[in-house]
Amino acid sequence: MKALAFEIIGSILIIRDSANDRDLKEFAEKKMKRHPYIQTVMLQTSKIQGQKRTRELKFLLGNKNFETIHREHGNQYILNPLDTFFSPRLSFERQRIAGLVKESEVILNFFAGVGPFSIAIAKKQPNCLIHSIEINKKSCNYMRKNIELNNCEDNIIVYCGDVFDIAPHRFLNSSNRVILPLPLESKRSLPLAFKCLKDGKGTIHWQITDHLSSKVVDLNVVATSIEEIFAREKISTEHSISEHRVVRWIAPHIAHIAIDIELGQ
Ligand SMILES: C[S@@+](CC[C@H](N)C(=O)[O-])C[C@H]1O[C@@H](n2cnc3c(N)ncnc32)[C@H](O)[C@@H]1O
Repeated sequence: MKALAFEIIGSILIIRDSANDRDLKEFAEKKMKRHPYIQTVMLQTSKIQGQKRTRELKFLLGNKNFETIHREHGNQYILNPLDTFFSPRLSFERQRIAGLVKESEVILNFFAGVGPFSIAIAKKQPNCLIHSIEINKKSCNYMRKNIELNNCEDNIIVYCGDVFDIAPHRFLNSSNRVILPLPLESKRSLPLAFKCLKDGKGTIHWQITDHLSSKVVDLNVVATSIEEIFAREKISTEHSISEHRVVRWIAPHIAHIAIDIELGQ
């Protein structure tokens, strides 16, 4: 039986490779036996797609309850993977960013999903205020539940709507840090994030996808894209890249990359 790519969200095993029915069943049964907490097995039948970044999933085996609670670093996230984006593969990135936040920061989490970045930060820095904007109503509802589940009601405020409508009206010149976990909107969201930094100073956690011929991120290419985006918007600011890393590989040479940009020091 060939090894199949998979991920586990709470009690749901999602098989990401297709195979014949017999191999899928054998793989699923083996995983369920080894990890008794797996209650449901689904097959991913599309890429992550559309503005809401969801995917099509086909039920294969087990229980037909698609709502689950995923536990990560002591935090809990309730969600339905049919309706919302969630990736356990971003777990390290959430903890990494949460570890950089200083006491009492005001943070903007654009593209907040069911809230995992905001919650990871709030749990590490309980004096921070995190404004979390998300367009998918179902994700917003789960984010509200997750805030309650993790006792972060005093730290996180949910705004259900489009970042590009909400932020220019409410958050210009407001925040110490902006998180942009949506590579698809990397070019449009970077200048808006800059305008939301208080006095043009702070940190932007930018995420992009790029074709890499080797495993190494070419910082000159990244720096040039940032310059071009700022120049197009007539933004002139002192900035530097303090960190960069490949978050995950999306395809053999396509990387999801995280870049930390320090501005206005
Ligand atoms: C890649 S997911 C990341 C979600 C979350 N940050 C996480 O790590 O689990 C991007 C999210 O952005 C939301 N989104 C896409 N376009 C948006 C927009 N213009 N305004 C607000 N949210 C948006 C999608 O619905 C999706 O939940």
